[in-house]
Amino acid sequence: MNDILPDEVGSWQRLEDAFRRTVELYGYAEVRTPVVEPTNLFVRSIGENTDVVEKEMYTFERHRDSLTLRPEGTAGAARAYVEHKLWTREPVSRWYYLGPMFRAERPQRGRYRQFYQAGCEIFGDPGPVCDAEMIDMLCALFGELGIGDLEVCIHSIGGPAARERYRAALRDYLRPHAAELSEHARARLEVNPLRILDSRNEGDQKVVAGAPAILDVLDEEDRGHFDGLCQALDALGTPYRVDPSLVRGLDYYTRTLFEIKSSSGGLGAQNTIAGGGRYDGMVQSLGGTQVPAIGFAMGLERILLAMPEASPRPDPLVYLAPMGIAAQREALLLARDVRRRGCRAELDGRGNSLKSMLRRADSMGARLCVVIGDAEIDRKVVAVKDLAEHTQDELPRADAAERIVERLGSAGGGHA
Ligand code: HAM
Repeated sequence: MNDILPDEVGSWQRLEDAFRRTVELYGYAEVRTPVVEPTNLFVRSIGENTDVVEKEMYTFERHRDSLTLRPEGTAGAARAYVEHKLWTREPVSRWYYLGPMFRAERPQRGRYRQFYQAGCEIFGDPGPVCDAEMIDMLCALFGELGIGDLEVCIHSIGGPAARERYRAALRDYLRPHAAELSEHARARLEVNPLRILDSRNEGDQKVVAGAPAILDVLDEEDRGHFDGLCQALDALGTPYRVDPSLVRGLDYYTRTLFEIKSSSGGLGAQNTIAGGGRYDGMVQSLGGTQVPAIGFAMGLERILLAMPEASPRPDPLVYLAPMGIAAQREALLLARDVRRRGCRAELDGRGNSLKSMLRRADSMGARLCVVIGDAEIDRKVVAVKDLAEHTQDELPRADAAERIVERLGSAGGGHA
């Protein structure tokens, strides 16, 4: 779990702003759900035999309820959608969220125990046009953030019937190869053989290379849905690769699956920056009606690792350096007046020497430093040093705030 200190938070805010701006253009509205949900919600929706539920949840008991820190945002969003019966209010709901998620994974670069996701969910649209549009929206957002070398992988795992058929076919194929599989894969063989498909173990990969493909066992409607997705992406000109090993680690998916990877920046092995898919059965299984749904989430830490460094110019700053108690009171009023006019002002109330206050103003990147001493108070003026131009003059106290703000406006930006 990481602290995000003030000198890092600027890039987080830029990323969050770009995400909000983009998704709002596509009609998504923000939803905020609790970070804690009943454990059972995650077990039922994500699936008992998944890594997330088996090993990674932070679960605790309170007043005999079992609660869990959310490992992802989809289950909570769907729970809220069902609890408030949103389908009775509108045929399609487009939601987005942004916040911390918790998984007790082995930490490494790009993988943390508290991490931030930004995600979107659409309830009520069966696709496949909205599936393609969602993927294209992500590509546009990553393009705007300057993240290059994107790879969009898509796949379909069909509906529950096709998936069951496929599980059976996969087990039949894998059983005779059990001895060649890793221990981890062997343990998965009976309960969740799909997870063996995305194993990183070389021996597993060799065996899996000859496995039957899900796309071959899809029924006609699922196949039509997947073809429709490919055609819509083609129409948008969004490049993609059909990846038969893409199964994703959560059990709620039906039909469309997608992941976006980037090889830019310092991502290393954890290079999946966004992942998602369709989950047409979840709303009904949580007690709602039959409502199709699709969504994605992206990991903000990973995206920040992939984003090029940018140092935006900070808002211009005026630094107030009062000498003595009376001057401090004058400076309090002047600083408040400057801020009321929308400009950033910082008051040095430490009572230090003028030299030390000026040094501090300079290191803060202040554009102007306002010096007030007894002489200035007597003459009802303030002294203003322009730290970029290296000039100094005086302003009448009465309209000092207005004139300072005018100067900052025409100067634009700090001098750091
Ligand atoms: P997910 O693939 O588990 O999907 O997570 C989505 C993204 O969150 C990953 O691609 C990765 O960028 C980031 N992420 C996941 N775990 C970590 C971690 N431990 N540290 C840092 N980043 C991480 C979901 O969570 C689904 N809820 C997505 C979805 C929404 N499907 C439908 N709607």
